[in-house]
Amino acid sequence: MIVLDKKNKVFTLHTQNTTYQMKADQYNVLIHTYYGPRISGGDLSYLVRYADRACAPNPVEAGPDRTYSLNTIPQEYSTCGVGDFRLPSIELELPCGSCSADLRYTGFELRQGKYALEGLPAFRGTDKDAETLVLLLEDTAAQVKVELYYGVFEEYDLITRAVRVVNQGGQTVRLRQCTSLCLDLLRTDLDLITFNGCHLMERSPDRAPLRSGVQGVGSVRGTSSHQHNPFVILCDHNADEDHGFCCGAMLLYSGNFQAQVESSQYSNARLVMGINPHQFCWTLEPGESFTAPEGALVCSPSGFGQMSRQFHRSIREHLIQDPFQGKRRPVLINNWEATYFNFDADKLVNFAKTAAPLGIELLVMDDGWFGKRDDDNSGLGDWTVNQKKLPGGLEALVPRIRELGMSFGIWIEPEMVNEDSQFYREHPDWAFRIPNRTPARGRNQLVLDFSRSDVRAHVYRQIKAVLSSADITYVKWDMNRSLSDVWSAALPARRQGEVFHRYILGVYEMLDQLRRDFPYILIEGCAGGGGRFDAGMLCYTPQIWCSDNTDAIDRLRIQYGTSFGYPISAMGAHVSAVPNEANGRVTPIGTRGVAAMAGTFGYEMDPNKTSPEEKEAIKEQVAFFKEHYDLIQRGDYYRLTDPFQNGPYTAWEHVSPDRREALVSLVSGTIHAAAPFYTLQLKGLDPQLTYQVNGEGIWPGDVLMNAGYPLPVFWNDYQSMQLLLSAI
Ligand code: DGJ
Repeated sequence: MIVLDKKNKVFTLHTQNTTYQMKADQYNVLIHTYYGPRISGGDLSYLVRYADRACAPNPVEAGPDRTYSLNTIPQEYSTCGVGDFRLPSIELELPCGSCSADLRYTGFELRQGKYALEGLPAFRGTDKDAETLVLLLEDTAAQVKVELYYGVFEEYDLITRAVRVVNQGGQTVRLRQCTSLCLDLLRTDLDLITFNGCHLMERSPDRAPLRSGVQGVGSVRGTSSHQHNPFVILCDHNADEDHGFCCGAMLLYSGNFQAQVESSQYSNARLVMGINPHQFCWTLEPGESFTAPEGALVCSPSGFGQMSRQFHRSIREHLIQDPFQGKRRPVLINNWEATYFNFDADKLVNFAKTAAPLGIELLVMDDGWFGKRDDDNSGLGDWTVNQKKLPGGLEALVPRIRELGMSFGIWIEPEMVNEDSQFYREHPDWAFRIPNRTPARGRNQLVLDFSRSDVRAHVYRQIKAVLSSADITYVKWDMNRSLSDVWSAALPARRQGEVFHRYILGVYEMLDQLRRDFPYILIEGCAGGGGRFDAGMLCYTPQIWCSDNTDAIDRLRIQYGTSFGYPISAMGAHVSAVPNEANGRVTPIGTRGVAAMAGTFGYEMDPNKTSPEEKEAIKEQVAFFKEHYDLIQRGDYYRLTDPFQNGPYTAWEHVSPDRREALVSLVSGTIHAAAPFYTLQLKGLDPQLTYQVNGEGIWPGDVLMNAGYPLPVFWNDYQSMQLLLSAI
C-alpha cells in the first residue's frame, strides 16, 4: 500500500511486514526516513537529526543554517560534487567537463500495477498485486530529469526500484554512473553478507560487520560472475534464520555490477547497487534517456528464512515468465559429464533407451553436436549439425528419441566464436578486439560483439533454423568466458563506455526473441556452471545451471548459499557419476539424489554404466520427485542447518503453503565413532496439527518444532534420509 501525505510530501510504502518512507524536505531534497518492520506511519523525518558538522558543505538554500548539509542527511538517491562526499548514485558529466549531480524533488505519479522496463528484466505485477510510485527529481543546471520508480508488492514484502534519466536540455550529457538503488540507513551496527566464490564453488556466504569506509563486491567480467553475486544482505549483528532485522538487495542484471556499502562518520550506512561504473559512460544527446536495471529489496524483521521465502515467492510468481511460471519442468538427463565431446546419435539413443523406463523425461544433448567440435578449441559459431556425429541431422535423431517417450533438448553458446570456425573466417571483425591489440583467448574462444544488432541477427538466424528443424523443447544457453578486449567497431570513441551494457542488453534481446519465437522451449541459463546466476537471467531462463561442481557434498554448500536469494526451482542440479569429476569424492546414489532434489533435479551420467541396483534407485528417486514435485518446487523452503559450520549433518525442509505437508532432507557429514545422539528441530509446521512421519510415527507439529525428531545414528560418511510429513 502506498500512502501519500501530499502536504508534507511524505511517501510511505507499506508491505505486509515492512514500511519504507521518503520525504521531500523543506529544500525539496528527497530524504530517506525509514526502512524496517511495518509501523503505522506518520512523518518519520524526526529520525533525521541536524547538527553543525565541520567540513560539511551547506547548500545555498540553507542560507546561514550550517546544520543542513547533503553530506550528513540520508538521501534517497545520492548525488555528488555538490556537498555529499559519500557514495554517489548518479554522476553527470556536462560539456564543460564538470562531474556532479544535484537533484530536487518536483512531483510524483501514482499508478496501479507494476511499471515495466523496456529491454530490461523486471518483476511483473497486475493491478491486483502491485502498485507503482514514480518520484520526479530534477537537476536544473544540467537540465536533467531523474525518475525514481518504486514497485510495491505488498503480499511479498517486495519493493522494486528502477531509475530513468532524461536529458531535457539542449546539450550533450554523459552519464558516468547511474545506480539502480540507494539505501541510506540511519545506523551502522550492521553486518554485510555477500555471496562469493569461483568456478566450481559459487556463492559462499561471507558475513562481516560493517567497518568504517567502503566495502562491497562487484564484477567487471561482463557477467555477474562466479566470483561475486548481485545479491547482498544487510542485517543485525545477531540476525539468524529466524530472528533479527535483515534486508536483502538484489539486482536484476547479468553484466558488470557493483554493490557497495559505505559506513560513514555519523553512523549512516549507505548501500548503492547498480551497473559497475568501471568502463561505463553513457552519452545522452538532447531528448535521450537511459534506464538503469531494476533493483529489488525485501526486508524481514524476523531473520533470513522469511526474507529468502519472500524472494523465492516473488521470483517464482512475478519474475519467471509464462508458461514456465506454473508449468511442471521435466526430469532431464544431460550427456556432458558422461561423454564430453565424444558422442554420436546411437550413443544418445542408447542413453534414452535406458533412461526413459527409469521415468526420465528429457534428453539433453550438450556441447559437441555442431560444426567441427571434437574438443573445445574449434567450432563455436557454426551452428549447423555435425553430420559425422549425427547423420541426417536433428531431423533424424529427434524422432528416435521421441519414439522412446522422451523429449529432446540442445546446448548452445551463441555469444562465442572460435577462430577455427567458418563463422570467424567470414566475420573476423565481429569478435571483440581493441584496435592494435591481439585479444586474449578464454577456453580458446573469443566473444562476439553482441552490442551489435547485425551480429546478433546473424547468430540468431542459425540458432532459429536449428530449433525449427526438429521437435526441441529445451535449450541450455551457455557462456564460457569472461569478457576482455571490449571495444565495438560499430560505436564511435565517445560511446565505447556503453559497450558492456549494450552487450548485456543484446543478450536479453536475443533471449527474449527466442522466448517469443519458441514459447514452449524451456531455456536453462549457464555460464561455465554458475557464472551468470542472477535475477536478470531468471526473467528469460526459468532455471540456471548452478555449478559445474556436481559433487553432492560441495553442492550442499553451493545450493545453500544460492538459496538465500533464489528459489529451488531456479537451481539446476543433477545426480552425476562417482568418483565425482570435480573432486573425486564417492557418495551413495541416494545422497546424490537427495542433494539434486534441492534443485531442478536431473541426471548427468551414462545410464548404461549404472548397476541394476543404481537403476532401481534412480527409478525410485524420479518417481518420488515427480510425486512430490509441487511440495519441493513450490513449497516454502527452510534452511535447518548451515553446511559451512561443518556440523554432523546438513538439513533443509520444504513445507506446503497450507502447512499440511513437509519434506525434510538430510545429508550426514563425515562420521565418528561414539558420536552423540542428535535431534532435529523442524520449522514452518502448524503447531496445532499432528503429522504422520514417513507413514509411520505420529508427531504433533509443536513437538517436532521444539523438542525435535530423533535422528538415527549413521554408519559411514555422507548418508542421507528424507522424512515425509503429512497432517492427519
Ligand atoms: C560449461 C557448462 O557449465 C557445462 O555444463 C557444459 O555445458 C560445458 N560448458 C560444455 O562446454
